[in-house]
Amino acid sequence: MSVHTILLDFSMDPARLGDENGQKTVFNQLETVLKEYVPNLLLTADIKVDGGSLKILTGKKGAIVSVRLFDRGLVTVNIEYYKEDCEDPLISFKSAKILESQMKKYIVALNSQALTPIKRCLFGRYYPTSDERLLEYDIDEVLFDEQSPFQKIKIVHSKSLGNMLVLDDLQNISEADLIYTETLMQRGKENYEGKEIVILGGGDGALLYELLKEKPKYVWMLEIDEVVMKACNKYMKSICGDVLEQRKGPNYEIIVEDCMLTVKRFMQEGRKVDYIFGDLTDIPISDADCGELWEFMINILDAAFKILKTTGKFMTHGNGATSIDSLEMYEQVLMKMEPAVVFHKTKAFVPSFLEDWIFYQISFKGNDVE
Ligand SMILES: C[S@@+](CC[C@H](N)C(=O)[O-])C[C@H]1O[C@@H](n2cnc3c(N)ncnc32)[C@H](O)[C@@H]1O
Repeated sequence: MSVHTILLDFSMDPARLGDENGQKTVFNQLETVLKEYVPNLLLTADIKVDGGSLKILTGKKGAIVSVRLFDRGLVTVNIEYYKEDCEDPLISFKSAKILESQMKKYIVALNSQALTPIKRCLFGRYYPTSDERLLEYDIDEVLFDEQSPFQKIKIVHSKSLGNMLVLDDLQNISEADLIYTETLMQRGKENYEGKEIVILGGGDGALLYELLKEKPKYVWMLEIDEVVMKACNKYMKSICGDVLEQRKGPNYEIIVEDCMLTVKRFMQEGRKVDYIFGDLTDIPISDADCGELWEFMINILDAAFKILKTTGKFMTHGNGATSIDSLEMYEQVLMKMEPAVVFHKTKAFVPSFLEDWIFYQISFKGNDVE
């Protein structure tokens, strides 16, 4: 079950919508066409608003149609109705397109568009791009849904991506995302054999699973959330194998706590590693307030570099390639780091993000990454 919202937009000569009479004429023309598509349509409210008017109509099965006429020459028509999964839609996208073209003709609009129906339910069908554009996924099942002490954890099934981990309503990784892990670790370009590695976050287990194939000396994965690992161990086996099940092996262990605590412990022990991976959520879980996100990022970078050998590398995912401002801010942080660092960037299209993503390879100046 879901609520379907069909959005139709029209533009016309503003002079035709300049006063109440003009708006009434255009509305009457629209209503004539609408009545053919939404049975039992009745005008229930006619509201004058600043810059135009709003008409609300009710129809069969509780359908609501709101028509907003803007005196600047815009008309929006929103049709909203409740739909059971087994029912046919009241208005399919195909009929919405026909409705749009009929209305356009009737009101002699200059331009028009019909958006695909938005299906609103608490099912998790829509997720954002990094620059906050709406993406619709072909999700047909929610396999896991739990609130941990740290975040809202969902595993959903997408027809094209397989199972997908979603944390706090943001897509994290799917079964189709090997490219994410391989780009993060620069597979084929880096040699992990015999190396000591720390993963910050990485609760889905994919990075640990892939790194272990490269015969490292030891990998510490520092993940705060037990529930993420429980969910991925059950539903994302194809990307993490049994590393989350075992928790400890001859050359790896998973430490369940805030990564900052473990990194600080490593600092006190004077331990230094060859690689550190930043595989935290885009908004990492921290004691700091949300407003201090950048402060947390800087602290984690600072601390991480203190447990990195001078020849070591810090590898992390950045942001969507279209999120230029955020990427630039991150790079500004890197450029101000003490001791100085240099960085390289790699871009890859990540299937479950439905966009290009930027990955960073950072090393101490004088020990360039390539
Ligand atoms: C699932 S991984 C993968 C990141 C990812 N590919 C993305 O899109 O953001 C991110 C993990 O970082 C963990 N995490 C966030 N903040 C953390 C912290 N302070 N310490 C340890 N783990 C943390 C989350 O629990 C989560 O499991």
